[in-house]
Amino acid sequence: MVFNKLAYPLAMAAFFAIVISQAGAYDPLDPTGNITIKWDVISWTADGYVAVVTMTNFQMYRHIMNPGWTLGWSWAKKEVIWSMVGAQATEQGDCSKFKGNVPHCCKRNPTVVDLLPGVPYNQQIANCCKGGVVSSWGQDPSAAVSSFQLSVGLSGTSNKTVKLPLNFTLLGPGLGYTCSQAKIVPSTVFLTPDGRRKTQALMTWNVTCTYSQILASRYPTCCVSVSSFYNSTITPCPTCSCGCQNNKTCISSDAQIRSVVGNNISTTTGGNKGSAIKCTNHMCPIRVHWHVKLNYKEYWRVKMTVTNFNYQMNYTQWTLVAQHPNLDNITQVFSFGYKPLVPYESINDTGMFYGLKFFNDILKEAGADGNVQSELILKKDMNTFTFKQGWAFPHKIYFNGDQCMMPAPDQYPYLPNSAISNLISSSTMASLLLLVFANLLLAI
Ligand SMILES: *[C@@H]1O[C@H](CO)[C@@H](O)[C@H](O)[C@H]1NC(C)=O
Ligand SMILES: *[C@@H]1O[C@H](CO)[C@@H](O)[C@H](O)[C@H]1NC(C)=O
Ligand SMILES: *[C@@H]1O[C@H](CO)[C@@H](O)[C@H](O)[C@H]1NC(C)=O
Ligand SMILES: *[C@@H]1O[C@H](CO)[C@@H](O)[C@H](O)[C@H]1NC(C)=O
Ligand SMILES: *[C@@H]1O[C@H](CO)[C@@H](O)[C@H](O)[C@H]1NC(C)=O
Ligand SMILES: *[C@@H]1O[C@H](CO)[C@@H](O)[C@H](O)[C@H]1NC(C)=O
Ligand SMILES: *[C@@H]1O[C@H](CO)[C@@H](O)[C@H](O)[C@H]1NC(C)=O
Ligand SMILES: *[C@@H]1O[C@H](CO)[C@@H](O)[C@H](O)[C@H]1NC(C)=O
Ligand SMILES: *[C@@H]1O[C@H](CO)[C@@H](O)[C@H](O)[C@H]1NC(C)=O
Ligand SMILES: *[C@@H]1O[C@H](CO)[C@@H](O)[C@H](O)[C@H]1NC(C)=O
Repeated sequence: MVFNKLAYPLAMAAFFAIVISQAGAYDPLDPTGNITIKWDVISWTADGYVAVVTMTNFQMYRHIMNPGWTLGWSWAKKEVIWSMVGAQATEQGDCSKFKGNVPHCCKRNPTVVDLLPGVPYNQQIANCCKGGVVSSWGQDPSAAVSSFQLSVGLSGTSNKTVKLPLNFTLLGPGLGYTCSQAKIVPSTVFLTPDGRRKTQALMTWNVTCTYSQILASRYPTCCVSVSSFYNSTITPCPTCSCGCQNNKTCISSDAQIRSVVGNNISTTTGGNKGSAIKCTNHMCPIRVHWHVKLNYKEYWRVKMTVTNFNYQMNYTQWTLVAQHPNLDNITQVFSFGYKPLVPYESINDTGMFYGLKFFNDILKEAGADGNVQSELILKKDMNTFTFKQGWAFPHKIYFNGDQCMMPAPDQYPYLPNSAISNLISSSTMASLLLLVFANLLLAI
């Protein structure tokens, strides 16, 4: 097939073009996605101010998971942090010139992390103390906010003399953001809890941070494999999809991980990527398998399986974004939540899947429980629907906001020519047989 010979280099070029374009922090599936960090000065003090800092994750499908965000900035002058509520600076720095009352942090470029749940009540404020875990806007807007309060000293003490902090940095596990300069914006108006009185911040500034996949990691962190009922070929993830730099230190079996680390796998090693990945041809921590499972007269059915190959990571509040032209006619989604993403009104081919609370919102570490599954039923649009030329496979898949490596289209299982005519009548039988076969192979 001439088409296929051309398709491979084209697809690779397209993939890298997309990765490169994301360095510019623009995500076509979530064009206004960003994390906004807002500082509201709520009082002036003798030598500075008290501010409430609120981080809002406006990204539709990209959350910050355990072990949470890390926020940094540089002070414009010689400011210090006297105290913090709901978060802490990771290092105090050199406070030796202070006698008696010693600041919480004297560093010129403090690094701040959220407190863990369960800290004493007097160290908390609203929306704090979630271990830095922030939901995506699409999944749960009420959990997409994180806040803390700080008291700043040796700074300006009025809206004319205060200097805005500079050079904000925001990191999450595996996620890198580029942040704008702080900008003075209209003061936030707060409503009292009874809704009967409005108060106003004395001064407000905002910083906007956008995701950058290049900053986050050099290699993709997930890959896609595909199969179908109409062909027994299972197309695996491309070799070394996620870079093979760990292929010597990877873990070859579930039994080996137990003998290597026993029962003391650290629970906070989220950032320690690649240290305990199962050995595979793709070397990805995450594989998404898309199986075209059944053909009905007016509908067709897909089974999606997300498998975790990382022995040191439970993916909490995971999200999966898929792009397929038939998602505008998705009829039923089993076991996962679903929300269409509608970046442009006329194109409605992209949606977000996520786990259901207390059921499968945690994708457990590699091993017997390290997968989540769902089935989708899509209604055929008879003008466009076909099993030919890999049409039934997704165009793009993102896991936790990272674009996954796809197989080249010429590797897709394709529809046997003879099968087209009798496909509908025999499909159920064939799919049952092939499904058993596919499951056997996938289990290996
Ligand atoms: C950040 O996201 C919000 C909500 O989507 C949007 O209104 C705002 O324009 C975005 N800001 C930037 C600088 O992109
Ligand atoms: C500042 O950030 C808040 C979110 O915390 C947002 O609602 C507001 O629109 C932002 N203001 C501007 C001018 O970007
Ligand atoms: C600064 O505060 C004064 C009142 O104290 C107010 O009139 C003025 O608008 C404020 N300026 C800014 C930029 O917020
Ligand atoms: C902020 O970053 C710029 C460019 O990286 C640098 O020149 C400047 O010194 C930094 N400012 C502070 C206060 O760290
Ligand atoms: C490991 O990866 C390198 C490329 O980075 C490759 O040449 C080598 O064959 C791989 N080894 C194994 C055992 O997969
Ligand atoms: C497991 O924990 C024990 C005791 O805490 C420690 O001696 C051992 O080195 C740990 N093993 C690994 C692989 O970290
Ligand atoms: C993952 O969660 C399970 C419980 O659901 C826990 O036993 C295990 O230690 C966790 N693993 C990691 C790496 O956090
Ligand atoms: C997009 O598709 C969803 C179903 O996936 C549907 O509920 C929604 O109305 C569609 N929106 C548009 C603009 O077509
Ligand atoms: C599929 O969805 C689109 C847009 O939502 C709609 O115009 C079209 O009629 C639907 N097709 C079928 C077969 O339901
Ligand atoms: C299944 O698809 C593969 C391409 O991935 C092709 O080589 C093979 O011939 C197909 N099988 C049949 C029975 O058509």
